[in-house]
Amino acid sequence: MLRSLKATLMLWVALLMLLIVPTRAVFDLRGQVARNDAAYDVSLSDWALALGNLVHVEAGEVRFELNAQTEESLRTTSTDDSIYYVVLGPDGRVLAGDAPLAERPITLKRGERLMGDTRIGGVPVRMAVHAVECAAALCQVRVAETLGKRERARDETLVLTGTVALAAGALFAAAIGLVVSRTMHPLTAVNEQLAQRSLDDLRPLRRGRMPSEVQPLIDAVDQLLRRVATDADRQRHFIADAAHQLRTPLTALRTETELALLEPHPPAVHATMERLHRSAQRVARLADQLLTLARAEASSREPGAFEPVNLKTVAHDAARDWVPRALERGADLGFQLEPAQVLGRRHLLGELLANLIHNALEYATSDPDLPARITVRTGNGGLGEVVLEVEDNGPGIAPGERDRVLERFYRPPGAIGSGSGLGLAIVRDIAQTHGARLSLLEGEDGRGLRVRVSFPAA
Ligand SMILES: Nc1ncnc2c1ncn2[C@@H]1O[C@H](COP(=O)(O)OP(=O)(O)O)[C@@H](O)[C@H]1O
Ligand SMILES: [Mg+2]
Repeated sequence: MLRSLKATLMLWVALLMLLIVPTRAVFDLRGQVARNDAAYDVSLSDWALALGNLVHVEAGEVRFELNAQTEESLRTTSTDDSIYYVVLGPDGRVLAGDAPLAERPITLKRGERLMGDTRIGGVPVRMAVHAVECAAALCQVRVAETLGKRERARDETLVLTGTVALAAGALFAAAIGLVVSRTMHPLTAVNEQLAQRSLDDLRPLRRGRMPSEVQPLIDAVDQLLRRVATDADRQRHFIADAAHQLRTPLTALRTETELALLEPHPPAVHATMERLHRSAQRVARLADQLLTLARAEASSREPGAFEPVNLKTVAHDAARDWVPRALERGADLGFQLEPAQVLGRRHLLGELLANLIHNALEYATSDPDLPARITVRTGNGGLGEVVLEVEDNGPGIAPGERDRVLERFYRPPGAIGSGSGLGLAIVRDIAQTHGARLSLLEGEDGRGLRVRVSFPAA
């Protein structure tokens, strides 16, 4: 069994053809040769009949008269072959013709005729023998010819049959190849569909007009897809539920530690309490981010719920939250906002921007000697796109790391801050949900990071 169905089918068809085509050709050849030979036999027999009519009895004596013209026409009837004849009297005596043809004794009954193969002077010939009435006895007429035209006809038939068989074989092979390809088409189509699928696309396969043999395969794949989709759904819900459940107690924990730090407390526990507070902060943020991720994923499954959103308004709202925090950290957070209309989910776009500003603030303020400068831009990006950009003058991300930082939970070796590596993964997911392109570029003067999200304009 070959690994390809098509190759297996073609191989079997080829083997069958190797068996059938030559057998058929041999039968055709033999039939045609027999028909040719029979036709030549008839014309030879006709000559014997004609010569037999020239035998007559005159005054009790058998006579045979062949005029020169008839003899000439007999001898030259075939250009390829030599023709011989002989007429034998009732006693077997040669009355006329070629004596060597009389050598073999042949006994015939009244009215009998026969065809046979013999030789004249070592040359094979075909011979017709007729019994002819003469007086009360029987005379014989024998006519023979060499086999030249029969052999030529045989050769021609062989060439013709062979050519026809080869041509038919080739045509048949081409036709079968075509038919097999077309028959395999549904399988190829299913294959292509599956190959083009993204991991998020778990819809049932397109069916079109599938043959009944492929139907069970598609049913099985669809069933598998349904199970995977259900399972993925269950997992997403679990993550969302878990994050949601964690959020309330973790937020409470963060608030409590913050308040506790404000109360008078023994200096010996101050450092511990600060660490506790930072951990609470970090883990509360992680729960928030997990919830955002789960929501972004759920949204990508129902793009029907998109609404017109102006990115300028989203950035405006973000300014309210982030300007005070930037001031607190001594960073200059600026906005250059032009209207930028997209179709999307407002709160997800807010989360996207929040994660980008959070990163810029976290990483650009890492160098105490260089005042952090962060700019948020919205506007037209040309080519039917609108863009949202967050640029900072921090350390930036090395080009070799730019793909990997988009992975969940990935942080480059030696990354500062208390993050978990989810921020840019959230940005990527939300961008994807909105059909937007995400690019990590260099900031002004080749310093810092400029994150650009290009949306299709609404
Ligand atoms: N504005 C930025 N400037 C420099 N590095 C950045 C910036 N934003 C992200 N990074 C780098 O990319 C990594 C991944 O970012 P992110 O996914 O937000 O996770 P986290 O901030 O929790 O580490 C960060 O650890 C940091 O090294
Ligand atoms: Mg981050």
